[in-house]
Amino acid sequence: MRIRGLEIRVFDGVYPPSEDTFLLMDAVSGERAARGLELCSGTGAVGLSIASRVGEMVAVDLNPAAATNTLLNYRENGMTAHVVVGDLFSPLHGEFDLILMNPPYLPDGDGAPADLAWSGGASGRLIIDRFISEVGDFMSPGGRAYMLQSSLNGIHESIERAESEGLDAQVVGRRDFEFESLVVIRMIRKA
Ligand SMILES: C[S@@+](CC[C@H](N)C(=O)[O-])C[C@H]1O[C@@H](n2cnc3c(N)ncnc32)[C@H](O)[C@@H]1O
Repeated sequence: MRIRGLEIRVFDGVYPPSEDTFLLMDAVSGERAARGLELCSGTGAVGLSIASRVGEMVAVDLNPAAATNTLLNYRENGMTAHVVVGDLFSPLHGEFDLILMNPPYLPDGDGAPADLAWSGGASGRLIIDRFISEVGDFMSPGGRAYMLQSSLNGIHESIERAESEGLDAQVVGRRDFEFESLVVIRMIRKA
């Protein structure tokens, strides 16, 4: 598919760029960075949309097919990224100026997450809460993190958790739908 000047291929079983993807792309469209990271990269479309203004780009996805898909989309659009199969921050070290994540965030009953692409566990906060508690350790001084989430799993809870981790957090993008709102929360280290 063609998205904002990029040719994005979507492998079987990989999350296709959707409204949440586009909202996160819009929120980060003015960014630039020396070292950027996209977690939960899927097709890699979000990171790719700003890759020309990022010195070194790293992408991580737990699904090997998604990681391969990310790598291929970077190559086919003439960009490079270091792509890693892994669980959130666990394969990473060092600091990043810019961190992006559109995670699986939908509440999913009581059991284990049913689908890696969209299920955020019973409350929908499984990945979101891990991200908030770990992101500060990977942010350079002056670094910014942008996380997408839904009103279905507690926007204020995310902001309060981020604040308690020493981050300033605010909603910088929003799109309202009939049954939920999608927001982008930007986090920066408190001065
Ligand atoms: C909603 S999709 C977003 C994909 C893409 N970033 C986008 O915006 O279109 C969530 C992605 O998170 C990945 N994922 C799920 N759990 C993960 C984890 N623990 N660590 C890294 N990636 C994970 C899934 O494989 C999926 O590609």
